[in-house]
Amino acid sequence: MSLITTDIKLVADSLSKEEVAAIPTETVYGLAGNIYSEKAIRSIFRIKQRPLFNPLIVHLPNADALRDVAKEIPAMAKALADKFWPGPLTLLLPKKDTVPDLITAGKPTVAVRVPNHALTLSLLEQLSFPLAAPSANPFGSISPTTAEHVANYFKDAFPYILDGGPCSSGIESTIIGFNEDGAIVYRYGSLAIEDIEEITGPVQEYIRDEETPDAPGMLLRHYAPSTSTILSNDIDKTVSEHVGKKIGLMLFSHSSKADHIVTQEILSASGSLEEAASNLYAAMHRLDQQQLDIIITERFPDKGLGRSINDRLQRATHA
Ligand code: TXA
Ligand code: MG
Repeated sequence: MSLITTDIKLVADSLSKEEVAAIPTETVYGLAGNIYSEKAIRSIFRIKQRPLFNPLIVHLPNADALRDVAKEIPAMAKALADKFWPGPLTLLLPKKDTVPDLITAGKPTVAVRVPNHALTLSLLEQLSFPLAAPSANPFGSISPTTAEHVANYFKDAFPYILDGGPCSSGIESTIIGFNEDGAIVYRYGSLAIEDIEEITGPVQEYIRDEETPDAPGMLLRHYAPSTSTILSNDIDKTVSEHVGKKIGLMLFSHSSKADHIVTQEILSASGSLEEAASNLYAAMHRLDQQQLDIIITERFPDKGLGRSINDRLQRATHA
């Protein structure tokens, strides 16, 4: 098994030897490597079984480090970075030639963010290179929000998992790109679009082309449990359609009184979308481990982080 540790020095030394390591962030755990090491980056793709056409996010210790990887920084991007970094916002910026094409899958833009996690920020400050870090899960499966989730997925594929406790935000960063007309959302995430729009004005939605997915987070089936999973607008009705099966429920704030239910996960008893988002993946992991016949999840209110939760639920339940 990978060693679960809080020793930053140990992990920094390993990363400096071109090894990969799992690191905590406020969103999900990442599988990290030196962006300038072809060996480390190829290991990340191999361990995750991620297709090479899916670019990686570059993690920086602070916004000043942008000058090493971005050719230019549009004023709107600068305003967003000033407001939300460190934090769960990834910006797509024109890349410098020194950023390897393996990181960006040959695209002219590089995805960058400054994560808001004390351990990982001090790790990044100790290193002489930025870290590429996709979520630390096999391609297509549920993202990890604890060190144990990572360990369960990968056994001994790499030496260390830096343990930063459970992730506070719990779903991936929001990804924003830019064109002549303004900001474009590529992936809904931990930062609500309404908060971004206060800085940028109306944000457009990126129009995905299934043939050439720009972002695996945009693939229709992703973040999926291995148990068959349904998204429901009416929990009691959907439960009644599956009588005789071992059913697990994932609900926003109220429990269900329906019969036949083996287990239910309430994501936020107080009805907070932020709390629900932070509990989402851990609840999916728990339900997926119970040998259920079916998981039925409730649709969330379509505002704020509810939109990001619904986005993940739609992809988790897509056939
Ligand atoms: O919260 C997060 O962003 C986490 C933590 C570890 O930082 N990372 C993460 O990485 O979610 P990953 O690899 O699972 O998702 C990265 C997303 C993918 O959907 C990828 O296609 C997109 O970022 N991406 C990266 N570079 C891009 C680019 N140049 N243009 C469009 N999309 C890009
Ligand atoms: Mg991912």
